[in-house]
Amino acid sequence: MKNDHWNLSRARRWKLFDPPARPSHGELDIYRAILSESRISYGARCALLGSTPEIRRLACQNNLELHCVDKDPEVYDQLRELVGEEDRSRFICCDWLEVEHSNRYEIVFADGSMNMLPHSQHKQFLEAVWQLLSPGGRVLMRVHIATEPEFESIEDVFAWARKFISRESIFTSTRTHIDMTYIRGGMLTVDFRDLHARVRELAESHKITKEEYDAYDRLAEFNKISLYYTTKEELRTMVEGMFELKGYRIGGDYTGDKNHPVVVLDKV
Ligand SMILES: C[S@@+](CC[C@H](N)C(=O)[O-])C[C@H]1O[C@@H](n2cnc3c(N)ncnc32)[C@H](O)[C@@H]1O
Repeated sequence: MKNDHWNLSRARRWKLFDPPARPSHGELDIYRAILSESRISYGARCALLGSTPEIRRLACQNNLELHCVDKDPEVYDQLRELVGEEDRSRFICCDWLEVEHSNRYEIVFADGSMNMLPHSQHKQFLEAVWQLLSPGGRVLMRVHIATEPEFESIEDVFAWARKFISRESIFTSTRTHIDMTYIRGGMLTVDFRDLHARVRELAESHKITKEEYDAYDRLAEFNKISLYYTTKEELRTMVEGMFELKGYRIGGDYTGDKNHPVVVLDKV
């Protein structure tokens, strides 16, 4: 199944999406800190798999020569509005699994990109990233990682979050726990069309509040994608022989952030 619903209409509403869909401030700080630890040269050639505006802005601030690899030029153009005029990134219109730019980049960024692809393509994705990197190159990628669910049902997650007054949006405080509950014992895939339908059913049977329903329903029209979670064990096995896994870094600023770490991989 292809994730063709990551499209122009979703890009136009990108500001409506809160973490973990978008990288949080804490996660952007992690990207920033790793970049400064990595002692990247001025104007270093880097690639971004996708068009994530937050990473494009980061690249400008760090004087990186950024090449965005994305199959959808409309999404790339639309998201430029969120980067601002300083966006000097270049666009490569290509599927990540077909890109032919061997040994060219010091850093490859990917923000949730691998999880856009079905599990059967995750290893292939990592091989493509390996190909892109110059010797000694580094990957900074936010990965959506599955863990054991802490709640029995989606309804229970809403009830738990309702008990404390949070500075977070309803979406941010519930999304990760809902995802873990949804994929319980299954294929690690969240089909958001189905998830939104389940939230709607809860609202219709008055098991969640109107405000909780609205927090999800306002996104439903633009959230027709699937997200393919992985696990730390799977990732460790997939990168073996290609990368040294340097660590998982957590944003530290929202509920569920431990499931969306920035992973650092060095090419071997
Ligand atoms: C990086 S991903 C995910 C961004 C965000 N963190 C999220 O979770 O929704 C979104 C981008 O990936 C692009 N994309 C998805 N699959 C792709 C593929 N196989 N090849 C190239 N671009 C792809 C889409 O066009 C879109 O611009």
